[in-house]
Parts: sequence; structure tokens; C-alpha cells
Amino acid sequence: MRNIAIFDTTLRDGEQSPGVNLNTREKVDIALQLERLRVDRIEAGFPIASPGDLASVQAVAQAVRGPTIVGLARARTGDIDAVYEALRGASDACIHVFLATSPIHRQHKLRMTKEHVLETAHAAITYAKKYFSKIEFSPEDAGRTEIDYLCAVVAMAVQAGATVVNIPDTVGYLMPEEYGRIFRVLRENVPGIERVQLSAHCHDDLGLATANALAAIANGADQIEGTINGIGERAGNTAIEEVALALHTRAALYGAETSLALHEIYPTSRLVSKLTGMIVPGNKALVGANAFAHESGIHQDGMLKDKSTYEIIRPETIGLRESQLVLGKHSGRHAFREKLLDLGIVLSDEALDDAFASFKRVADQKKTVTDEDVRTIIGFASVSPATKFRLDALTIRADEHGAAVEVRMGVGDTVVRASHNSGNGIIDSMLKAIEIIADEHDLVLEDYTVKSVSHDKDALGECHVQVRSGGDVVTGRGYSTDVITASALAYIDAIHRVIERRQSGSHKRDRMSLL
Ligand code: KIV
Ligand code: ZN
Repeated sequence: MRNIAIFDTTLRDGEQSPGVNLNTREKVDIALQLERLRVDRIEAGFPIASPGDLASVQAVAQAVRGPTIVGLARARTGDIDAVYEALRGASDACIHVFLATSPIHRQHKLRMTKEHVLETAHAAITYAKKYFSKIEFSPEDAGRTEIDYLCAVVAMAVQAGATVVNIPDTVGYLMPEEYGRIFRVLRENVPGIERVQLSAHCHDDLGLATANALAAIANGADQIEGTINGIGERAGNTAIEEVALALHTRAALYGAETSLALHEIYPTSRLVSKLTGMIVPGNKALVGANAFAHESGIHQDGMLKDKSTYEIIRPETIGLRESQLVLGKHSGRHAFREKLLDLGIVLSDEALDDAFASFKRVADQKKTVTDEDVRTIIGFASVSPATKFRLDALTIRADEHGAAVEVRMGVGDTVVRASHNSGNGIIDSMLKAIEIIADEHDLVLEDYTVKSVSHDKDALGECHVQVRSGGDVVTGRGYSTDVITASALAYIDAIHRVIERRQSGSHKRDRMSLL
């Protein structure tokens, strides 16, 4: 069996998804979960983008010991210096340098000749060698680069000292046969190619990212880049879990495997969905709510007779199972900790205290606390970076003519009230009242979703909001058995993130304007 390295870019390309804004603590939480999943490499961010991005990469590098930590750089000395600075505390570091090579990018974006691109990339790799023994080079938009020129670029990267050469299908344009062929041509034609690892990086614009990644493996790729749940720029990246399970399920066909701890896939998917606010569609392969549900009578009958009739993967394989340990309001700290262990969730003592307090609040409101509830509580443990605003009370009067909502909030030691009565329903009036209290931030609600965490009548409602404040877009999350309260908490969480972003100087728009 060949081992295929997994390069996770959830924190970099995944974070480029519209509306996703992770703070440092959330990035570290995801990175620690990726470490439990045993990915080989974690691309933690783009340090030159802003001081906040650099600090996040630094924090991940310090917290994570297993996987190699990767930082992204354009082919510029300033970018490379920033990655060096960010990864100084890493136990194992790698720099990822990229420069576009396709005719479209050379002509319209870079305004550089083929020779100039080659020289610039060569100089960048050579400069990066000062600091790093592991260097990945990506010819951006390799998928639309002339194949002879791509061979020349890869040969240059090998000769300059890159240790991994990545072949991005940046715009998700290629078909599996075409993408696979590039790997074959590179393997057959580039001198010294055996000295580097070849990596595949696919985007899902035509829904082919996983198929393309598998085609690359079949044609000699050593590493797959992707994200959890396939999140990422536009239609997203290759979903790592899909590649890992395809190799696991069809091992004989590919003769390849990954080192992932497969049972960590579901917990990782839930955590990423919760912290990014990107809800996983029900029909998503493996991690969607319906991925293991059998609705039709014939299928159910077959499943009862023998699971192999309609199931090619056991849900337990990816860590999806309801355990026997049921929690309720009489459950103590010990039972709660056992449940966490059972779900494969490891928390520091401090985080456990917070999570247990949240669990007690939820257990007071509902009869049984399900596994999904527990995952929700944990996912929210790191919410609210600042505690400037506190929701004290909501007073609601509503009839068929409209809704008037008064919000009482604690702001530090003082209590402030605001009311609104001309919104489009209770939630709209309430959010407008909160906007009055936080008017200095000029908030505009851009997106709002609320979903039920489980199927019981007293289920928790989980609310996600996307809010614009000046040039920043942030997400906020809240949960409660009452969706109105969940909505208020999500909006307050978003306000805290606006404040935190202002304080840390980490603006996603800085990063986006450089990429
Ligand atoms: O899709 C892409 O080309 C990228 C590069 C930065 C590798 O994400
Ligand atoms: Zn990409």
C-alpha cells in the first residue's frame, strides 16, 4: 500500500469561503482536532496578510506538535520572512510558495513573461531555503498551464530545492482524465522528479474535486490537499474525508491509503461546520445528516436482513454513532466527562468547566441531552471572545399586526435597554433593538440561519448569523432551546467578533486582497 499524505488547508483555503471568519482560538481548536484526525500537514494561514493572520499561524504552530505546520507565501521575500516569523515555534515547519503560471494569469494578472515567472519562482524558492528544509511550490492555475511550460516550471522547482510540488487546478476546470494525465506526464518527463513529492490541489467548480484528486493518486500523486467538508473558495476544495474513505473503501483498486484516524472524521466535520457556520447539506457524502439514512421500504428491509445490501461504509468507521450513555439534568461532571471521552472529545480542565456549566444550563431546559447537543455545547465553548455585552432579558409583545421587543443587556457594569416595534416579526425587531444598543458598530445582518440540533420536541436551536460592520464581515453563533434567545446570542457573538477583529487587526479583507 502506498501512503498518501494528507495536507489540510481548512484554515487557509477553507477560510477563504465567503462569510467564514475564524478567530485565533477557533483556528487552534480546529488545528488540534486535525491533529487528532492525524492529518500529515496543516496549512495554518497566510502570515503576510495581517498581524492577526501571523499571530494565528504562530498560535497553531505552538499548539500543534504532530503534523507539519505550513504557511503560505507569494513568491516575495517579505511573504517568506513572514512565514519564517510565524513558524519559528513549530515542531516541524514547511513553507508553501506559489506563483501563477497559466497564460491567462501571466498575461492578465501578473503581466509577466514565461521567463520572468521562472526566474521569480526560482529566486523565491532559493530565498526560502535560507530558512526552511521543507518547501512546497505551487504553480497556481497549473491546470490551465501549457504542459511543456509546466514541465519546465516543475523541473526548475525541483532543481531549486523544493521538496513538494503541488499542481493546483485553481479554477476547478479539469476533467479527471486530464488532471491525472498531468501527473503522468510530469512523472515521465521531469528530470529529478523522484526527489520531490507530487501533490494534488483541486477545486470543486464542476463538482469534480474528489474525482480529480483520485485520478491524481492513480497517476502518481503522493499528497492530496483539501479541506474538511470540502469548504473553500467558491465551490470549495476536495473534501479530505471523501478521498480518505474512497481509498479505505476501494483499497484494492488504488493500492493506497492515508494515515487518518478515520473515526475522527465525523467529530472534525461537526467542529468545522460549527465554527465556520457553514452548514453541511443533508445529502453530503459521509458527513451529511442523510448519508447513512435509509428511507425506502425495500432498502430498510435489505438493511434489516444484512447491512451490506445498502451500506458500503459503517457509520462507526467515521465516528458516527449514538452511544448508550444518556445525559440529563441529574448527570454529574463525571458522567459528562465520560460522555466526552465516549465521543472522542478531549478538553482542557478549564474548557471542561465551561462546557459542564453550559451542559447544566441545557439540561435544565430539556429532558435528555443528546450526543448532538453535547457536540453543540462543546463547539460553542469557545464562542464570545469578549464579554462586553450580556443578554439579560427579552420582553416580547406580538400579535397579528407586528412585534415589539425590548432587549435588556449588560454592558460592563451598566444595564442598557432598547426596543423596536416595526421589524418584520419578533426576531427582526429584536435584532434591530440590539443594533440600537451597539449602534457604534453600524451592523448590517447579511445572512441568518437557524436549525434544530436534534429531532426531539425540546431540541436545541442553533443559530448562525453573518453580519457586516464597515468593511468586515463576521459570523456569530448562539444556541438555546428557544430560537429567539439563540438568535439574540448569535447576534451578540457577532458583535464580540467585530470588536475582537478591530482589536487584533486581523481583517479577512487584507488577506483576500493579496490572494
Ligand atoms: O487553488 C490554488 O491555486 C491555491 C494556491 C494558493 C495553491 O490555493
Ligand atoms: Zn486553492
